[in-house]
Amino acid sequence: MAKNLVIVGAQWGDEGKGKIVDILTESADIVVRFQGGNNAGHTVIVGKEKYVFHLIPSGILHPGKICVIGDGVVVDPEVLLQEIEVLKSRGIFRPEDLLISKNAHLIMPYHKKLDTARERLRGDNKIGTTGRGIGPAYEDKVSRCGIKCGDLLNEGDFRLKLKANLLEKNHYIKTILHEDGFEIHEIYHQYMTLAAGIVPFIKNTSKFLHEAMGFKKNILFEGAQGTLLDIDHGTYPFVTSSNTVAGAAATGSGIGPSRIDAVIGITKAYTTRVGEGPFPTELQGAEADRLREQGGEYGATTGRPRRCGWFDAVAARYAARINGLDGLVVTKLDVLDNLDNINICTGYRYNGKVIDDFPTETSILLKCEPVYEAFEGWKAPTQGVKKFDKLPKKAQAYIKRLEKLAGVEVMMVSVGANRDDSIMIKDPFK
Ligand code: IMP
Repeated sequence: MAKNLVIVGAQWGDEGKGKIVDILTESADIVVRFQGGNNAGHTVIVGKEKYVFHLIPSGILHPGKICVIGDGVVVDPEVLLQEIEVLKSRGIFRPEDLLISKNAHLIMPYHKKLDTARERLRGDNKIGTTGRGIGPAYEDKVSRCGIKCGDLLNEGDFRLKLKANLLEKNHYIKTILHEDGFEIHEIYHQYMTLAAGIVPFIKNTSKFLHEAMGFKKNILFEGAQGTLLDIDHGTYPFVTSSNTVAGAAATGSGIGPSRIDAVIGITKAYTTRVGEGPFPTELQGAEADRLREQGGEYGATTGRPRRCGWFDAVAARYAARINGLDGLVVTKLDVLDNLDNINICTGYRYNGKVIDDFPTETSILLKCEPVYEAFEGWKAPTQGVKKFDKLPKKAQAYIKRLEKLAGVEVMMVSVGANRDDSIMIKDPFK
């Protein structure tokens, strides 16, 4: 029976979704990105080759699997074309494998300027965005002045929409930000040149997916970022500007929620966060440095060092609830191999009481002190292990505890960066 699976990040992004999507793509016919833009960075390592994708689903590494950039994504055409060029130069791009929704909104040059300028204006209250124009592009979408990929098919319409936007944006940029505005002809020519490379891929992807379901194709919906960065359910305002949770797979790709068969959450065996905002289990000093260096915890998009901390079961339970998780994949277990002691946060102490439900309010989260359960480290390599029962006993106990606390079955454990460094406990496609 065909299956439609949604993969989401269960933390603050960077959970290692790229690798898991790459593995699960073996059993899929189609891979769909449904939200976010090139703020995401999905790293996949195949043998000695490393690939970092920002926009194109990592499924593109599998010839013959169709990759869809869905309606809910914001597309920077320059970045998209660069990704296509890199794939071409490495001999793995097949034009027939890529489809872009006509409804996906375009990231425009003024969005990037607004993103970085707003961050500057926020000063100490900055969000720590990736500066890729994501927020302003979604703002325009919601305020109904956005320009869509489909508009690239109609030069006249594109120019009119651009003109209307620049009238307002240039005024704001010049008078409030005291920076130079944009010339309509420059953006127009730049985007019309870029359009030549993109237009062949622009399609009605919702209809395509609907028809594919009719042919019983397996579809993998690949989320970007993570649950706690969701615009509605994350740690607002320190979030991204899209819905990152499983529900967005339906709206962001134009399929009905009843078509989704299962939702899988990806979580690291510890926690990381990039950008600002509360992070209850965050570690400081040498302990954080050890996780960062061992785990190579530097942003795939911006190169920023990631903040590191212990696994947070309060947040994991919350992610299970908000996404309706059917299964969990635990990544980077091997990063903990050399530690003497490992902690799991089971609750927060807040105002003298222990709470076990994740509060999203910054003011509350900042005052939450993690309550830890201590584990002895297994102090043995896990990389290369192929079966769960071959893991060190203490590592098995750690995963089992994490599963119990999160309330979700662990289906896969990742013990290294390569495709092969994976322990499949239960294949979500089966
Ligand atoms: P934006 O999405 O660039 O607006 O950034 C908003 C927040 O989301 C910042 O804290 C970013 O660091 C964070 N963020 C955005 N994309 C990712 C991602 O792919 N992984 C982790 N954090 C992200």
